[in-house]
Amino acid sequence: MRFKIDSGQPIPKVEYTPEEVATWSTIFRRVTQLYPTHACLEFNNMFPVMVEHCGYKEDAIPQLQDVSDFLYGRTGFILRPVAGFLSFRDFLAGLAFRVFHATQYIRHSSKPMYTPEPDACHELLGHAPLLADASFADFAQQIGLASLGVSDECIKRLGVCFWFTFEFGLCRQDGKLRAYGGALLSSFGELEHCFSGQTEMKPFDPPKTALEEHPITKYQHVYYVSESIEEARQKLLYDRLYKNHPTKFRRELRLIQSQYRNHEFVIGFIQDVFKKRGLEKIHNRGIFSGRINNYTVLF
Ligand SMILES: [Fe+2]
Repeated sequence: MRFKIDSGQPIPKVEYTPEEVATWSTIFRRVTQLYPTHACLEFNNMFPVMVEHCGYKEDAIPQLQDVSDFLYGRTGFILRPVAGFLSFRDFLAGLAFRVFHATQYIRHSSKPMYTPEPDACHELLGHAPLLADASFADFAQQIGLASLGVSDECIKRLGVCFWFTFEFGLCRQDGKLRAYGGALLSSFGELEHCFSGQTEMKPFDPPKTALEEHPITKYQHVYYVSESIEEARQKLLYDRLYKNHPTKFRRELRLIQSQYRNHEFVIGFIQDVFKKRGLEKIHNRGIFSGRINNYTVLF
C-alpha cells in the first residue's frame, strides 16, 4: 500500500535581515520571560528541547526546515511553507496529514507586540513546540481529520473552535490559568492582555464557542478556558458540535488516536469520505486515488 501527499522540496533557507532578527529578538526575550508563569506545562516541557535541538535563541531565527525535521522525528509532523493565510478548510486539511502550513516572513519591526497575520515568530514560538508533544500532535491531526469532506458550515464552526483552542486556548493546570494557544504564546502583548484580568473568560463549550465573535485584527475580548487540554480535545472532537452531521465521523475519529506513524487510519477515513461524497475512485491495479482539499491521495 502506498500513501502519498504532495512531495515537498526542501524548504528554502531565508537570510533574515538584521532588522528582522531584531524583531525576533524582542519577541523571543519578552515571551520567554512570560512562559514560566503563563504557558502550559506541555509547552514549558518542550520549549527547552527546541532550544537544544532547533537553534531557538534570542539572536537567530530558526529555519523552518530544521524545525520541520525535528518535528518529524518526534511526532511525524512536517512544516510546509505558505505565503500567508490559508482558508480554514485548506489549513485544517493539512493537519489531517500531519502537515502544518507555516509562514516564513517576519512581522514589521514597528509592531513586535502583535501581528494580525501569522509570521515565522508566530509559527515557531507559538505552534512548533506543542506540535513536538505527542498528545498535542494527535489532537492537531484529529481536528484535521474532522474537517475532511465536511460542509462549509461545519468548517466554519470547526475553524472558530480551532481559533479559541489552538490559537487562543487557555486551560487550568495546578489551579492556575495557562495558555496553550499559539497566538497567545507568540505574542507578549496579547499574553499580557489576556492575563490582565480585564478580559472575559468563558468555559470552552464547542456549540457556543463556535458562534463567538473573533476579531482578527486586534486582541480578543473573550477567551475560552478548559479544565485541561485533554478536556478541550474531548469536547471539540466528541461532543455535540457534529451530532447531526451526516458523515458521522465521530465514530471514525475514535479509531485513530495515537497512531500517527500508521497512515492506514487516514486512508480508511478518506475512503469513507470519498464513498459518502461520491468522489473519484479508481480501482485499477489496486490503485485508489482522489483529491480532497488540494491533496492528491494515492494508495
Ligand atoms: Fe496560528
